[in-house]
Amino acid sequence: MRKLTTAAFALALTAPVLAAPPAKPARLGMCAACHGENGVAPAADAPNLAGQKAIYLREALHQYRDGRRDAPVMRAMAGPLSEADIDQLAQWYAAQTPSKGAP
Ligand code: HEC
Repeated sequence: MRKLTTAAFALALTAPVLAAPPAKPARLGMCAACHGENGVAPAADAPNLAGQKAIYLREALHQYRDGRRDAPVMRAMAGPLSEADIDQLAQWYAAQTPSKGAP
């Protein structure tokens, strides 16, 4: 019993490390032309998103959607996003590997 508890505890500790990467968001295609699927932006004027904190990405998308942050392109992009879309996209880009320099 004790052994089992220890094993369960060890598993609980390692679980976040072994967790599968987030599934590709359904709306990722809307973002990839400018930010890249992997969050390293191919567009000259679009910011890299890879490795940014999910909480920041989520907040930025809410701000564009609500018009609190006014950048016409991103307002149009964020407008149709649901809460679930925003969550998935934020988790996805946060889990990508940041660029080591200017692409
Ligand atoms: C046509 C190009 C384009 C597309 C498509 C696009 N973006 Fe953007 N995105 C931009 C630009 C340009 C900015 C910088 C805007 C600003 O000045 O705030 C930006 C900013 C952002 C930011 C804020 C980054 C930061 O560091 O504050 C997030 C998050 C973001 N985009 C997510 C997305 C997501 C998610 C999608 C798909 C639903 C998407 N973008 C689609 C061009 C684009």
